[in-house]
Amino acid sequence: MGKIIAVDGPAGAGKSTVSKIVAAKLGYTYIDTGAMYRAVGLKFLRSGQPLTENFLAEITKDIEIKLDESAKVYLDGEEVTKEIRTPEVSKLASDVSKFGFVRKKLTELQREMAAKGSVIMDGRDIGTQVLPNADLKIFLTASLQERARRRFEELKLKNSSVTLDDVEKEIFLRDKQDSEREIAPLAKADDAILIDSTNLSVDEVVEKILELVISEK
Ligand code: DC
Repeated sequence: MGKIIAVDGPAGAGKSTVSKIVAAKLGYTYIDTGAMYRAVGLKFLRSGQPLTENFLAEITKDIEIKLDESAKVYLDGEEVTKEIRTPEVSKLASDVSKFGFVRKKLTELQREMAAKGSVIMDGRDIGTQVLPNADLKIFLTASLQERARRRFEELKLKNSSVTLDDVEKEIFLRDKQDSEREIAPLAKADDAILIDSTNLSVDEVVEKILELVISEK
């Protein structure tokens, strides 16, 4: 069985970009847990209802979330890969992720997906909660300004009208909410290796992680 790699860190640190490349190089499966919280956020957004615990429990009871080999995301059988990438869904994903029953449901699903090994999973609580026995834990971060700049460049390519300032505020508030929530907050596991990517290229971060995988026994 191949290894289990956990990658956590704040928004825009490059977790998914880097994890996808590492997965491809190792022949591993990449699992984007943020996409799963985003799918819950999107289902809730489409309902048009105010966010109450009862209503959220109702819509998540039978929710079906699937990720395929090419990291496409399906919500109740419908492909929503692009739709979950808006700033509105980012905020809602963070909002719904505070609820214990949402976390429990997705955590169970994530553990099942990782059970076969040879996986790299990214999120906020993978090293601390979802896969505490992972073979390798990375905490990937970068300065707030750099993370905002990267996310802004991504959104610009999609013709979004948001400003760099908007993106910086959005990321700051989301990280604060994710770090301060009571259940499974964004945190570095004690045994995670910290990589600050502020001044590193994507290739340099990938290289560092691959070296760590090889040296890990
Ligand atoms: O990784 P992302 O930006 O797509 O995640 C969107 C939100 O989902 C994030 O702000 C908090 C939540 N999330 C979480 O609570 N736990 C995870 N393991 C992954 C994401």
